[in-house]
Amino acid sequence: MPILLYGTQGFLGYDAPPMRILGLETSCDETGVAVFDTDAGLLAHALHSQVDLHAVYGGVVPEIASRDHIRMLLPLVDRVLEAADGGRPDAVAYTAGPGLVGALMVAGGLANGLALAWSCPVIAVHHMEGHLMAPMLEEEPPAMPFLALLVSGGHSLLVSVCKFGDYEVLGTTLDDAAGEAFDKTAKLLGLPYPGGPALAELAESGDPASYALPRPMIRRPGFDLSFSGLKTAVMLKVKEAAASGRLEQERANIAASFQAAVVDTLVTRTLQAAESVQAQRIVVAGGVGANLSLRENLRHRFAGDVYYPRIEFCTDNAAMIAAVGAIRLSQAEPAGEISARARWSLETLTTPLADNIELGN
Ligand code: KG4
Ligand code: ZN
Repeated sequence: MPILLYGTQGFLGYDAPPMRILGLETSCDETGVAVFDTDAGLLAHALHSQVDLHAVYGGVVPEIASRDHIRMLLPLVDRVLEAADGGRPDAVAYTAGPGLVGALMVAGGLANGLALAWSCPVIAVHHMEGHLMAPMLEEEPPAMPFLALLVSGGHSLLVSVCKFGDYEVLGTTLDDAAGEAFDKTAKLLGLPYPGGPALAELAESGDPASYALPRPMIRRPGFDLSFSGLKTAVMLKVKEAAASGRLEQERANIAASFQAAVVDTLVTRTLQAAESVQAQRIVVAGGVGANLSLRENLRHRFAGDVYYPRIEFCTDNAAMIAAVGAIRLSQAEPAGEISARARWSLETLTTPLADNIELGN
């Protein structure tokens, strides 16, 4: 099968026949399906969250995740194809990593099976590149270059994006990811999984200045992050409050102080990185990007423009995977081999198209 080299009209800015890409996402605990048309944009998308299945365990159980993806993926594909007028896709894009290998195999297996049946190629998409490009689905997408803060349950990354496929990771977390820190702290405060949204809600009724918590790493050179020390500091405050019988009345204050410390740390590090690469635009993506306090703080403290995906595309979804598939059509391959990678550096990706292709403008 020949390697395809298609561009698109609206999306990439040059003439080519419109193409339809089916996107599949099963890297963690959300089953996502979307259809992206290179001419008309996003045609349909659907998401099934496994949150209720994992909540009793306080975190994602990989085997349960894989089994539920198997149960849900095909019915969702049927639904989304129908919502997108039932047309047969020209290519199937799937998240090939990083993520839980068993869970990744579900989308990888179905993508290859469908592509064989439809005689179309497959595109193995990097999950974090999906998050990076999620703001491109909005009406006013950012022009490149930009600095991206990618903060999710599994990753905290500061990435300098020169152009599509050309990424330099400026900083990463040395221990817990930002979302993981939210989830673990929420658990300490007796909040349900996933903790981020629940903790953010509780924080609204608390005083962020009531506890002095550390802002880890912000005076160190470089742009790395670390959240395990902060988590330990919160644990001590929770224990002290419990020992003095004041935990119930202090929960909101602890949540607000913790959120303020994470947000201040993320924003300070992001501004330092932005200054070093002289970024005029910042993109915030990943599940923690849904945090309103983070959004507000960054908007106040950064002189340039800040871009976010809509809230539902901050967390895992297949729309971003189908969109990256559209841009990477030139790298589509014949179906046959499932790619599933637990770890995969963004910096190993390449630019799929000519230099003059820019997204957004
Ligand atoms: O990107 P995502 O859906 O999945 C991963 O790829 O990890 O991110 C999920 C993470 C969870 O840790 C969740 O607690 C966090 O994003 N999160 C939030 C908020 N909404 C989701 N954290 C803080 N504030 C929120 N509003
Ligand atoms: Zn994600």
